[in-house]
Amino acid sequence: MDQSIRSKALAILNRNRIMTVATLRPDGWPQATTVGYANDGMTLYFLCARQSQKVQNLARDNRASLTIGADSADPMAIDGISMAAHAEIVETADEISRISQLLLGKYPEYANFPINRDEIRVFRLTPKVISVLDYSKGFGHADLVEAGKKILIVYYSRTGTTRIVAEHLSRVMKCDLEAIAETGDRNGVLGYWRSIIEARRQSHPPITAPRKDPSQYDLVIVGTPVWAWSVSSPIRSYLAASRGKLPEMAFFCTLGGAGGDRTFNQMEGIAGKAPLIRCAIRAHDVTEGAYREQLNPFITALALPRYADPL
Ligand SMILES: Cc1cc2nc3c(=O)[nH]c(=O)nc-3n(C[C@H](O)[C@H](O)[C@H](O)COP(=O)(O)O)c2cc1C
Repeated sequence: MDQSIRSKALAILNRNRIMTVATLRPDGWPQATTVGYANDGMTLYFLCARQSQKVQNLARDNRASLTIGADSADPMAIDGISMAAHAEIVETADEISRISQLLLGKYPEYANFPINRDEIRVFRLTPKVISVLDYSKGFGHADLVEAGKKILIVYYSRTGTTRIVAEHLSRVMKCDLEAIAETGDRNGVLGYWRSIIEARRQSHPPITAPRKDPSQYDLVIVGTPVWAWSVSSPIRSYLAASRGKLPEMAFFCTLGGAGGDRTFNQMEGIAGKAPLIRCAIRAHDVTEGAYREQLNPFITALALPRYADPL
């Protein structure tokens, strides 16, 4: 996050004490409530009664939206924050006592107020998208920042080309990497023909259980070599097994020269979901190093916020 936007956001968080949190009721109706908060950097904390509707809503769906701001007599001095965040219940005694200190720092009048810990829940709000409203930059001005998107790259590589691309993406985008491994042998001429046959037959060979759960990520990037104008069979197995658990997706492939579009269409069909973006890289360009430059639009498209302004 840009340092000046972060400073502005922190100033707003430190100056205010009250926020409106919207959670989702079981019937899908948004429920906005006012709560006091304390913050540690951009992470927010609040307390509420254990029996409250908010607690039930967040137990079902931990997505929350919140706003913080105050009235201003000067239109050009209006500022505020809107945030999409994930809410989690804080369980450990150490963290609860640290949060109690933060809250007391903000609300010293509660120092002698009796609070029964058994009757409350403490929530941590981790930001996902932050909109910082700052009319001093121009009437209606807001900066939108996407925070900490969790990205996983899943790939299969028989001879190392797709691995080079996957590892580069993981370095540049600072995200987790999962290499799909197989139980069977795919080396040599026999392995080559086995790969061709499986690609043509659209088979699902056994793969070893992936270590990472894709549903725990915001974006999963899947990379495959092209085999016989098709997705490689281990990635076919992975996508079929993960269908229904996949968040937003992006696809890349490496290939000799032909079959990229057909491969991407197959991946989309198996995953049951259209990717945000697709990128085909020639094996030759991986060897020559040109792939880094070719990946830049792919990386930029995935790094930019795609959310409408929550204000
Ligand atoms: C079994 C097999 C089939 C292939 N079929 C195609 C193809 O249809 N079109 C293509 O452009 N490249 C094809 N290739 C080339 C690979 O897609 C390319 O070399 C890829 O970068 C290999 O990735 P890897 O090193 O990660 O396994 C094929 C390679 C193999 C081994």
